[in-house]
Amino acid sequence: MSVIELDNLRKTYSATPALDGFTLRVERGEIFGLAGPNGAGKTTVVECASGLRRPDSGTVRVLGLDPRTQRRALLQRIGAQLQEAALPDAIKVGEALRMYAALYDHPADWRELMDEWGLTGKRRASFGGLSGGWKQRLFIALALVGKPEVVFLDELTTGLDPAARRTTWGLIRAMRERGVTVVMVTHFMDEAEALCDRLAIVDQGRVVAQGTPRELIARGRAASLENAYLTITGQEQS
Ligand SMILES: Nc1ncnc2c1ncn2[C@@H]1O[C@H](COP(=O)(O)OP(=O)(O)OP(=O)(O)O)[C@@H](O)[C@H]1O
Ligand SMILES: [Mg+2]
Repeated sequence: MSVIELDNLRKTYSATPALDGFTLRVERGEIFGLAGPNGAGKTTVVECASGLRRPDSGTVRVLGLDPRTQRRALLQRIGAQLQEAALPDAIKVGEALRMYAALYDHPADWRELMDEWGLTGKRRASFGGLSGGWKQRLFIALALVGKPEVVFLDELTTGLDPAARRTTWGLIRAMRERGVTVVMVTHFMDEAEALCDRLAIVDQGRVVAQGTPRELIARGRAASLENAYLTITGQEQS
């Protein structure tokens, strides 16, 4: 059994389908990337897999659980950082971690987590006053506070400076070392190449290519993953 099994998902918000026969398998312990043009359906996939949105049809199994009928059990075992994530400006870093920990039956020790992710010095800082990089660090810690087996990260590094992005890569690798399965949405092909064991390229609500970065480069007959991506999505520049 794969950790994530998505079969033939369909989801239409208005006229054009956001997901149109989306099928995917993610194996335990891998860092799996989702890439694809704006509006391709990546966030919708993450929302469906993490039990936050219901597809119109198709099946979702995460850790063998069906979010339609086993949502609570599922939410106890996964963590998510969402693309539009936000917290109230006034909330303090330590408070946010404590509150999130209270949502889980068997949470991590939030003080330890805060220490581990370098947040102890920011414990009394308000969320609203944190820079983008510190907010992202907090969101990672919040995604991990339930000791999840699967973590979803939706454009975690968008808006980060190059150094903060590299730091974040280290944090994501650290998750894999702990045995956590990571599903990450990214628009950065250097990031996908550096981090992902495998990735899927999503276009118009379905997977149009998948494999290791090396396999995708070979498939696109390209010199880099970015060029392979542009070829596969039909956006290569002349
Ligand atoms: N709540 C919503 N209401 C209506 N349409 C939506 C909603 N959420 C997404 N859509 C539409 O569904 C399609 C897929 O959106 P989605 O956010 O999943 O794409 P994405 O691949 O994550 O894009 P991006 O790279 O810009 O984040 C888009 O056409 C989008 O406009
Ligand atoms: Mg998105």
